[in-house]
Amino acid sequence: MSSRYRRRAARHASAELRPSHPRFFDALTADATVSAAYRSERWEFRGRGDTLAQALRLMGRSDAFLAQTFYRAKARLQALGVPFLPRVAHRLAIMTAQICIGDSVVVHPGVYFPHGQVAIDGCVEVHSGAVINPWVTIGSGPCDAGTTTIGPNANIGTGAIVIGPVTVASGAQVGANALVLTDVAAGRTVVGTPAVPLARRTEPPGSRAT
Ligand SMILES: CC(C)(COP(=O)(O)OP(=O)(O)OC[C@H]1O[C@@H](n2cnc3c(N)ncnc32)[C@H](O)[C@@H]1OP(=O)(O)O)[C@@H](O)C(=O)NCCC(=O)NCCS
Repeated sequence: MSSRYRRRAARHASAELRPSHPRFFDALTADATVSAAYRSERWEFRGRGDTLAQALRLMGRSDAFLAQTFYRAKARLQALGVPFLPRVAHRLAIMTAQICIGDSVVVHPGVYFPHGQVAIDGCVEVHSGAVINPWVTIGSGPCDAGTTTIGPNANIGTGAIVIGPVTVASGAQVGANALVLTDVAAGRTVVGTPAVPLARRTEPPGSRAT
C-alpha cells in the first residue's frame, strides 16, 4: 500500500470516527468525576459551576488532567471540522503531560490518566472507567485490520504495551511492563511478556501466609 493511499485511508477513518467523539463538556465532567473518584477525592459535583471549579482544581493538582483536557479539546474541534486548532491542542497535550492520542482513537468520557506519558494511536477505543498508567503504549494499525479495545474499568499498568486488534475486557488488569498480544478476559489479571493470566487464587482472602 502506497504511503499516499495510507494517508488518505487514515483521513477517511478519522472522519468516520468524528461523531463518536464525546462533546467537550460531557467528557470534561466525566473525566473529572472519574479522576476525582480514583484519587479518593469528592467526585459528586453540585452543578455546572462546581464541575468547572473541580475540573480547574484537577488541572492544577493531577499530573495529566490539563493535558487530558487539551486532548478533549482536540477531539471535539476535530469532530466539528475546525482546521489547525486541533493540532495546537494536540501539541499542548504532549507538552503538558506527554499525552499523545492519535486522530483515529476514541476515548469515551470518564477515563483516568494518573500521570500522563502515554501514547495511543491507530484504531483504538478506550471505554469509560479505564485507568491508563504512565509509560503505556496502546496501538494498532488501520481500522480495517481491527480495533484495540480497552474495556470499561480496565487498568493498564505502568510500562505496559497493548498491540494489535485485541480486547482488554471489562475490569481486567494488565500488570506493569506486560506485553499484551492477545485478548484479556473480563476481570482477569495478566503479566509478563508476552502477557499470560495470573492463576486465580483459590484460598479465601486474608488466608495467605505472610
Ligand atoms: C499485576 C498486578 C496487578 C498483580 O497484583 P497482585 O494480584 O497483587 O499479584 P501479586 O503481587 O500477589 O503477584 C502475584 C504473582 O505475579 C507476579 N507479578 C506481579 N506483578 C507482575 C508483573 N507486573 N510482571 C510480572 N510478574 C508479576 C508476582 O511476582 C507473583 O508471582 P509468584 O506467584 O510467582 O510469586 C500488579 O503486580 C501490577 O503490576 N500492578 C500495576 C501497578 C501499576 O502500574 N501502578 C501504577 C504506578 S504509577
